[in-house]
Amino acid sequence: MEKIKLSSTLEVSRFALGFWRLNEWKMSSSELLYFIETVLDTGITTFDHADIYGDFSCEALFGEALKREPALRQKMQLITKCGIMPVSQKFPERRVGHYDTGYAHILESVEQSLKNFHTDYLDLLLIHRPDPLMSPDETARAFEELHRSGKVLHFGVSNFLPADMEMFLAHLSLPLVTNQVAISPAQLTHFHNGNMAYFLQKEIHPMAWSPLAGGKLLHPEDEEGRRIHRKLSELAQRKGTENIGSLIYAWLLKHPAGIIPVLGTGKLHRIQEALEAFNISLTTEEWFAIYEAGLGHGVP
Ligand SMILES: NC(=O)c1ccc[n+]([C@@H]2O[C@H](COP(=O)([O-])OP(=O)(O)OC[C@H]3O[C@@H](n4cnc5c(N)ncnc54)[C@H](OP(=O)(O)O)[C@@H]3O)[C@@H](O)[C@H]2O)c1
Repeated sequence: MEKIKLSSTLEVSRFALGFWRLNEWKMSSSELLYFIETVLDTGITTFDHADIYGDFSCEALFGEALKREPALRQKMQLITKCGIMPVSQKFPERRVGHYDTGYAHILESVEQSLKNFHTDYLDLLLIHRPDPLMSPDETARAFEELHRSGKVLHFGVSNFLPADMEMFLAHLSLPLVTNQVAISPAQLTHFHNGNMAYFLQKEIHPMAWSPLAGGKLLHPEDEEGRRIHRKLSELAQRKGTENIGSLIYAWLLKHPAGIIPVLGTGKLHRIQEALEAFNISLTTEEWFAIYEAGLGHGVP
């Protein structure tokens, strides 16, 4: 599979796979190991996590599988995130969900992630969400310390706006190699809020989370979903594919920013289907037909 360079030292696969829903997949450790090995065989080598996924359980589930075959670690890029402090039974003293992008919390969170994954380095660490109380010097100091110690090789952000990134970069001596944001035909915000222009200007490849809008684009529940689904079905028929998902991925892949879709499925056949996107070439008009279905009206 084609690779994409996030920086001179970090290459990721053209698709990433996310493990947000891992604890719903109900895989045993050996089933998960088989799943990971089979996914690696498809060429998807970039795995997206966060400390909080599955109420803080998903990293450790993944790590248990990885422990069975430690040599796999070198074949993958492990991404995780930190900074969200949800109300959780794991933290009974916490009364209010909040963010923490302070030095101590970031270092502590990374230590826990390394332990969970049974590894001694992360390929990429993202600040999960912009924090209204972020003290950028402190967050930068944490990143620089983790970089110096070799515990984290690269850094990025998620759900940031260009002004958030610029502000942070003004305090940081390291590059921010990606911004992971929600992009799908049902989520066009980042085409309008300056992010896509910023990515192109800075040559940053964004990662697209929930590329199928959490599955809702395939099983629409409201009028917007049905409208987009109708257009996708019509196009799929015209393109000779039955696979609406791969049409959506082809729509993301066509964008010049080099968007990396983060798949969310735990089913191997759906991952195989996703790869059919490489064989679908959308014309400009077809791309806009999907974009307009998402907008709900034609472009002016
Ligand atoms: N940075 C952030 O703030 C943020 C936020 C949310 C997510 N993420 C990342 O993005 C990843 C993907 O998000 P997502 O899970 O919402 O992605 P998604 O691809 O939009 O949705 C995946 C869901 O759709 C279902 N689905 C139904 N039909 C499908 C088909 N034909 N192909 C694929 N999936 C189908 C999947 O179920 P099955 O498993 O049954 O296939 C799964 O429940 C997450 O795992 C996480 O790593 C990041």
